[in-house]
Formats: sequence, C-alpha cells, structure tokens
Amino acid sequence: MPMPVNLHDYEAEAALRLPRMVYDYYAGGANDEILLRESRTAWDALRIRYRVLRDVSRRDLSVELEGHRLEWPVIVAPMAFQQMACAEGEVATARASAAAGSGMILSTLSNCTIESVRAATTGLLWFQLYIYRDRGVTMELVQRAERAGCTGLVLTVDTPMLGRRERDLLNGFHVPPEFPAPNLGVDMRSTLGTSADMSSALAQFILHHWDAGIAWRDLQWLQSITQLPIYVKGIVRGDDALLALEHGARGVIVSNHGGRQLDTAVPTARALRDVAECMQGRGTLLVDGGVRRGTDVLKALALGAHAVLLGRPLLWGLATNGEQGARHVLSLLRDEVDLAFALAGVRSPGEATADLIA
Ligand code: FNR
Ligand code: LAC
Repeated sequence: MPMPVNLHDYEAEAALRLPRMVYDYYAGGANDEILLRESRTAWDALRIRYRVLRDVSRRDLSVELEGHRLEWPVIVAPMAFQQMACAEGEVATARASAAAGSGMILSTLSNCTIESVRAATTGLLWFQLYIYRDRGVTMELVQRAERAGCTGLVLTVDTPMLGRRERDLLNGFHVPPEFPAPNLGVDMRSTLGTSADMSSALAQFILHHWDAGIAWRDLQWLQSITQLPIYVKGIVRGDDALLALEHGARGVIVSNHGGRQLDTAVPTARALRDVAECMQGRGTLLVDGGVRRGTDVLKALALGAHAVLLGRPLLWGLATNGEQGARHVLSLLRDEVDLAFALAGVRSPGEATADLIA
C-alpha cells in the first residue's frame, strides 16, 4: 500500500483491515448519518480570506492550554474501546499524542486503565466521564482519575442515552469478550459483552448505568467532589456554554459526538461562532467533529476555539499501523496546519482571527 498522504487515506486503509462490526461502530453516526456527513462539509463550506506579505518564514503553532504547553492546537478526542483498533489501544494513542507534542482525553470506556495511559505520556491527559445513576461509581472514578494524575475532567452531556446507531443494530454491536473496560466502575460483562439480536449491547449498557436525568445541578455536584477543572463536552449553543461556566465549568467543548447522537443537530463548524461570541473569551473553548484538514483547524481557531479535538482519524491510524499509524496521522495533520497557517498569513494561533473567515 502506498504511504497515506492524508487522513482520508487512513480511513480507507482502516476499512480494509477492521472487522465490519468494529469499523461500523467507529465510523457510524446516528439515524440517516446526515450530521455525520455535514460535520465534514460544514468545514468545507467555510472560506478563508488569507492575508499576504506577512513574512511567514517563521511560525509558532504552540498554545498554552490550562498549564500545558501544546506544540500545536490539537488534542485527541475521547473514544471508546481503542483496543478494537490495535492491541495497545489507548496506551498507543497516549504515546502517539505525546510524540506529536499534543494531548489526549481518555474515554471512560477505555480498554486500558487510566494508570497505564498516564504512565505512557507526560503530556496533557484529561479523563472523560458520564454521570452514573450510582453517584458512588462516579465519585470513585473521579478520585481514581485524580490519583492517577489526570489534570482535567471532561463531562460529556450530549449522551443522556445512546443515539440510534443503525449500523450497530444491524451488526448486533457488542464489545468482544477479550476487550476489558477497566475504568467503568461497574461490571461491563453483564451487558456490554453480549447483544441480543438487532440491538446494541452498548446502548443497553448505557440505558442501564448512565443517568439520563442529569441536569445543571449535577455539574455543580461533580465540581464539589473534585479539585480538577471540568470541561463540558457536547455543547452546541451559546446559552448552554454560559450555563456551563455559571455552574462551575472551566471550559466547554463544542461537539455533537461526531454525529453519533442526535442526527440533524447543528454541525460544530456552524455552532462554534455563536458559542464563542457568547463566551466572550471567558473559559476554555474547544471544538471537535469532522476535522480532517489543517485548514479545518485554522478555521476553528479563527472562529474562536483555543484548540481542536481529533477523533476518528486517530482510530484509522491505530488500525492501519498501531502507534506508528497514530503518530503519522497526527504528523500529517500537524504539517497541514503549519502549511495552512503559512498560506493564510498566520504566524501563530493568536493571529487566526475571525476576519479570516468569509
Ligand atoms: C466517540 N466519542 C466519544 N465521546 C465521549 O465523550 N466519550 C466517549 O467514550 C466517546 N466514544 C467514541 C467512540 C467512537 C468510536 C467515536 C468515533 C467517537 C466522540 C468523540 O469524542 C468526538 O466527539 C468525535 O469523534 C469527534 O468527531 P470526529 O473527529 O470523530 O469526526
Ligand atoms: C459512543 C459513546 C460510547 O459514541 O460515547 O460510542
């Protein structure tokens, strides 16, 4: 196979290598996958009004994010069950993100322990969680993440229940028994590892364990049990972003879960500007969903994001060539960000301003 030259090439390669059930779980979206497609095309629809004669011979992509120096403004999004992509799973992702001068958010549904992932990177490592019906489970997880050395919590709020993933229904998605889920706080075997016909074991597990009744007061509760900063992931509205800050969040992640939850929700490329305008520079603002090109990262920064999360392409890299594949995915994107900066007359993230976007 010729060496992939972009993140799309990696998806094509991963599709050839992964079992159908796994590829579909990773790639799939909710319902008719309209938002899945629009998450990509919404970035393409934005146009860049580049500047000229700005001496772009030297660029510095680095950003300071909550006390962490990132060499460039991209961190890896939290994604479940990464050992289904390669044996080292989230540990490989952690190593790749560290090598790329990046950071990582670890999913609650990781196949690798928080501790082993922490040991694999000295870079930014935040822990993502959902609030369980059993608040004791949530508290134990938070305390474990703190003890392990995670420096932030990401509370995902767009998944009160799992979106309708019809690929998973057709495949009877379940997590093969050889893959553990050591950070769940509850025994996943009861549901996650099995699937009745035409259902998704994951959907059943979430329905059983996660609390669909969470509200803003629960964000305050979560903040009351930890010293870690909390970032609320799954926001697409400016008013909700302000509520998140008012209830104690350090920042928000504009996200629609990669089109996996509410189909025909607003693409993040279209939601970001409103959220940024409402936040007016208060709190940390991140965005994800459909980012595949360096120009997407430039556009996200210009629209007000401090940094961008990268999701599925990282899985495609893992599936194609393990940690090396993940490293190459991040390296390809980083080079594209650097070129996009240069061609847009932007020498640092601070120069990526709203007037660049037509
Ligand atoms: C996810 N995502 C996700 N988000 C989260 O908060 N906790 C999780 O456990 C997961 N799990 C997960 C698994 C898989 C296979 C995918 C593809 C996604 C959502 C993820 O963090 C992110 O919001 C999107 O993936 C971003 O979109 P792109 O970059 O994948 O298009
Ligand atoms: C998903 C959940 C686990 O998107 O976040 O699969």
